[in-house]
Amino acid sequence: MKLSRCLNIEDLHTRARSCLPAPIYHYLAGGADDEWSLRRNNDAFGQYELLPRYLRNVGEIDLSTRLVGLELRLPFFLSPTGMSRLFHREKEPAVARAAADFGTLYSLSTMATATIEDIAALNDAPKMFQIYIFKDRGLTVEFVERCKAANYDALCLTVDTPLAGNRERDAVHGMSIPPRLGWRGLLSFFRHPSWTAGLLRDADFSLANVVHRIDAIGSGALSIVEYVNQQFDRSLTWDDAAWLADLWPGPLVIKGLQTPEDARRALDIGASAVMISNHGGRQLDSTPAPVDCVVPMRDAVGDALDLIVDGGIRRGTDIIKALALGANACSIGRPYLFGLAAGGHAGVTRVISILEDELERDMALLGCRSISDLDNTYVQGSRAALNAGSFPGQ
Ligand code: FNR
Repeated sequence: MKLSRCLNIEDLHTRARSCLPAPIYHYLAGGADDEWSLRRNNDAFGQYELLPRYLRNVGEIDLSTRLVGLELRLPFFLSPTGMSRLFHREKEPAVARAAADFGTLYSLSTMATATIEDIAALNDAPKMFQIYIFKDRGLTVEFVERCKAANYDALCLTVDTPLAGNRERDAVHGMSIPPRLGWRGLLSFFRHPSWTAGLLRDADFSLANVVHRIDAIGSGALSIVEYVNQQFDRSLTWDDAAWLADLWPGPLVIKGLQTPEDARRALDIGASAVMISNHGGRQLDSTPAPVDCVVPMRDAVGDALDLIVDGGIRRGTDIIKALALGANACSIGRPYLFGLAAGGHAGVTRVISILEDELERDMALLGCRSISDLDNTYVQGSRAALNAGSFPGQ
């Protein structure tokens, strides 16, 4: 399917699948254990209904929103995802440029294949760096200093990764360290000659922000990935998060929380926002869908924290539901990676513009002119969910 014929995110998913060797596709699309959370993240939106109002002059729709003090032209942004080079040779800069074209925020991952400085040099658009507190605290401090020097607008601390989740698709397809591709996996690379040709032309898959740190222990992408995997620190506590908050003068976003208790802890250490997230279902399985956590977390922190729904968003109506329930913004991961895999910068642009068009149309159909006017009078638990007793809070 051509990019221009992709009408929705699922079409781009289909195209991405056809562009990628199977091991790479499953690394992108998969989740942990039984992938219950992965499915639930999206299915949960189906438990809410939108309540339209008519005859309200919806000639002009304002999609802008304010998040951690930044003015965004869209109420959604691009979540941090590692190793974008796996999906397309245009990698992270293509994604960052597309986000800037639409006036929204790009979050660069610690695990990126482009540097903090590469992304900063592209444009003046809003940028956030996703950080981990590594065992090697010196590396974390170095990241903070580099983000300050490169004028990043915000830092996002991912906390749901004390260790890697159990991604069985990766084991099945040999996406391990080192890779253990069976004959099927290898065949899949031959069946995707343009991806494989790109690999041969430019095989720079290194974790660009970390590579200098491990010169002492060896070279090559695998040893870098191994090094980083060993850096996840299971002994972290909220005191470490408070340490980071003291180090970074700008807005700090905590990514990966799902409970009111943790939202209050984030507030206590001076965070500006929380990304309600289960890492797209890639870490602990059986965790709730982010959209179902908005109401209890909002009740816990009032307006003192910005709340972001991260995970499962595939339609403009998903974003509207999350915002009507009380979120300040949403973020997407796989959708823009599907776009990247499907067509580099043009593919990411297609994804953002599909969601923008859906939002604009759906807001007009809902009878709501501005994102800031969305509230819980526009949303209700579906009768089916209420009858089944499965609606959150029932
Ligand atoms: C991720 N995610 C992620 N999160 C993070 O904090 N640091 C990272 O390096 C990565 N890497 C990563 C790689 C890939 C391939 C995926 C799919 C996801 C999680 C990401 O930021 C986000 O939480 C989810 O992708 C949101 O769910 P959806 O939008 O993919 O449903």
